[in-house]
Amino acid sequence: MCGIIGYTGHLDALTVLLRGLEQLEYRGYDSAGIAMLSGEGEDRLLIKKAGPVATLKDACEELEVRSHCGIGHTRWATHGGVNDTNAHPHIAGKVTLIHNGIIENYHNLIEKFGFRGSLVSETDTEVAARLLDYYYHGDPYEAIRKTIREITGSYAFCIMFEDIHDKIFCVRNVSPMVAAHMEDGSFVASDVTALIPYTKRYFVIPEYQIVTLAGDSVSVQDLKGDPVTPEMLEVNWNVEAAQKNGFPHFMLKEIHEQPEALRNTIMPRLENGLPDFSEDGIPDAVFSGCDKIAIVACGTAMYAGMVGKALIEPILKIPVSVNIASEFRYESPLVDEKTLVLVISQSGETIDTLAALRLSKECGAKVLSVVNVKGSTIARESDHVFYTHAGPEIAVASTKAYMVQLASLYLIGCRMSMARGKFTEAQARDFISRLTSSISAVQKILDNKKRIKEAAAVVAKAQDAFFVGRGLDYAFSLEGALKLKEISYIHAEAYAAGELKHGTIALIEEKTPVIALATQDHIYGKTISNIREVRARGAFVILITKTGAEIPEDICDIHFAVPVPHDRFTVFPVAVILQLLAYYTSDLKGLNVDKPRNLAKSVTVE
Ligand code: M6R
Repeated sequence: MCGIIGYTGHLDALTVLLRGLEQLEYRGYDSAGIAMLSGEGEDRLLIKKAGPVATLKDACEELEVRSHCGIGHTRWATHGGVNDTNAHPHIAGKVTLIHNGIIENYHNLIEKFGFRGSLVSETDTEVAARLLDYYYHGDPYEAIRKTIREITGSYAFCIMFEDIHDKIFCVRNVSPMVAAHMEDGSFVASDVTALIPYTKRYFVIPEYQIVTLAGDSVSVQDLKGDPVTPEMLEVNWNVEAAQKNGFPHFMLKEIHEQPEALRNTIMPRLENGLPDFSEDGIPDAVFSGCDKIAIVACGTAMYAGMVGKALIEPILKIPVSVNIASEFRYESPLVDEKTLVLVISQSGETIDTLAALRLSKECGAKVLSVVNVKGSTIARESDHVFYTHAGPEIAVASTKAYMVQLASLYLIGCRMSMARGKFTEAQARDFISRLTSSISAVQKILDNKKRIKEAAAVVAKAQDAFFVGRGLDYAFSLEGALKLKEISYIHAEAYAAGELKHGTIALIEEKTPVIALATQDHIYGKTISNIREVRARGAFVILITKTGAEIPEDICDIHFAVPVPHDRFTVFPVAVILQLLAYYTSDLKGLNVDKPRNLAKSVTVE
């Protein structure tokens, strides 16, 4: 949700900022802007444009001014429409500012400080710029301290003062921001993807501490002015991982990276064929000491949680709930000291998920998070972290992160079943061997993807699509529907196959695509009957079964088989089929696959 970048040093700031904004554009692409300090005695330079970073880049083409200090922003609009004026940076008096987050009390601040009538934009951010300027009398730290005392909400601010020519000041609450210093200068960004071309060593800016970026140093101080030494982190992937590497879209590249991501997530956690989390520092007591599990997440991560529940609950025989984070936090959840809260998040920054985590801890629960981004807020605030190793996920539509979230839940489920005496060692070994074999099934789907494109050609013509399945298949279909709707803009719904006839079947017309998942043996016959019901009403049926399943005559138009013999593990290849179906549908419709409308990658607003 909004990408921010700042640089000061001996490199050309414009080049660094535009490159950084391109890397961060997946965080928001409603508008983009930069501001640079062009040297002693000269004016600030401000260019901001509605539209993607490419539009800003075009506007900067003729620029002759060279600067070594500047800030840049790519926006996902919250307060105020998408236009040049509402784009960041915002200038007020001596202050130039960019912001990621939401200032909740900006209306009150406008009244309290008499800003009404003098603001030029409709944004909450401009109010923060005005407030900083109001408090600024030559001491940036005093102005920042006084400003954040007045503000409620979430923020990551990068601030330049007109009379301080080579420095950038940063402060944050909740919204993420990282910083780094190296020979070339000092950098700040919303996430490490923008820093990777320059360095792998960085630190997460601690909340409520003020970071000063100068050409030759980065320093951190707390609100009392005492120096702070931040904890340095190191990225374990390289710059190629954040590039398309010959693929037309990040999403397609990331779909193809799934076998490797699965290997990286599963293999280092196996010891003698059994799951072993000693390197993660997760003791078995976490698994044996609870009497229920509450999974909390948003979007795709929550749908991974739905699969986790359908897998784990029948084995452990304890209640497992799956909770939408944005609801959980306001609904007095049934969470106590005996609850294991499993938080799932790719970015580790989703604000609703973070708030749910904090609430769970207040209730005394132990929190184990499954997170992809090292050092993210959710990772830092959890009692235990299980890192997925997907590498950077750039496409807004989550694919490889979902895949490794699933793998993590399978590993956790297995270890927990052992710790609670539900799996013998032999059963656990068998489970793990089936899990690792699923990786080759994923690869086989990727190697034979051409037919999925043919199916997509039919789906691309539709206005609505339905995904149906029972049991685990229903859990898989939820993610299939989300993937299709978010990147193809086709209305898609997932239904428990037996539920369709209680209303939704009224929407089935001649040629309505129904993607039917029937990979679970014990309910295969029931699902087939439900498929007949839609077939009889003219649906175009794309059927997914296990290899070798008996397919009744004329039950479907297109059939895909997944080469996984055991029902519990079909999700891995099924997920790839559904991801590719969504990908090709979007691409055939000529849409922006990696940056679908209205969305952003990391949702750091409520
Ligand atoms: O970073 P998170 O996993 O916490 O993000 C949660 C959702 O915003 C995310 O999964 C979203 O639904 C995906 N972009 C959908 O593909």
